[in-house]
Amino acid sequence: MQIRKAVIPAAGMGTRFLPITKSVPKELLPILDKPMLQYVVEEVAEAGIEQVIIVTAPGKESIASYFQTQPALEQHLLDTGATELLEKVRHASNLAQVSYVIQDEPLGLGHAVLTARESVGNEPFVVVLPDDIIAHAPGALSQMLEVAERYGPGVLAVEPVPWEVVQNYGVVEGSPVEERLQRVTRLVEKPPRQEARSNLAIVGRYVLPPEIFDCLERTPAGAKDEIQLTDALVLLLESHDLYAYEFKGTRYDGGSPMGLLRASLEFALARPDTRAAAKALIAGLGEVD
Ligand code: UTP
Repeated sequence: MQIRKAVIPAAGMGTRFLPITKSVPKELLPILDKPMLQYVVEEVAEAGIEQVIIVTAPGKESIASYFQTQPALEQHLLDTGATELLEKVRHASNLAQVSYVIQDEPLGLGHAVLTARESVGNEPFVVVLPDDIIAHAPGALSQMLEVAERYGPGVLAVEPVPWEVVQNYGVVEGSPVEERLQRVTRLVEKPPRQEARSNLAIVGRYVLPPEIFDCLERTPAGAKDEIQLTDALVLLLESHDLYAYEFKGTRYDGGSPMGLLRASLEFALARPDTRAAAKALIAGLGEVD
């Protein structure tokens, strides 16, 4: 089974990052020197997927311009001998074949995925959320494609979360299949803490069959009055096997300012070129009370 296409929903309002998201898309906020969106496009490319469909929104045109080549900038870097920077700039534009679809209104993640229906067509595909950053080599998506190769396209990335926050996630219950893998028996979007029977939360990586689109068409608005992808997965589960895969890696919640700060600090500590400076910076903070 060859998976060729990745859908990256990036049309949300990013309210947790207001006021910056008045004019800067959340997905372009940086971890160090690269936007979150680039980290996930890199993860997609590493998984061998070459076609990326970004769902964007009116007013978020800077997302498309980020992946376009910038001849004047490249010429300037060439003229000034800034070859390392030139390499970085070109890398961002050459990662994948990127196309765009517009979600006119932010009616929810499920609706954003449905907007990409025509671009995806009748084949399995992946959905990757640009504000869930997962650090690991091989990437979470590569790990999931390996699972999909054996069990078919219906693989959800999951991780155990503290019980106090289950109500913020889609939660799965399942029966064990192999290490890190469960066959899903039940899915609930944002269950109240006292009703949740599992703390295994779905995070932003999905390998999906094209049948999900019909399920999305049938899905009414749910939590937050939005069309939720998890609700469509509940319908899909009636006719299709789904698997929950506990990926290897650390996930950062880049959708919130503190999550992005944590990612920035930990990435700075992990990168050889920034490690010493990051350690000095943290040491310099001293005791904080
Ligand atoms: P989030 O719920 O994290 O994004 O959706 P948000 O709604 O922009 O953020 P807050 O809660 O207001 O702060 C996860 C991903 O799905 C996209 C978002 O852009 C984000 O990348 N999304 C969400 C859409 O593309 N369309 C939507 O209608 C909702």
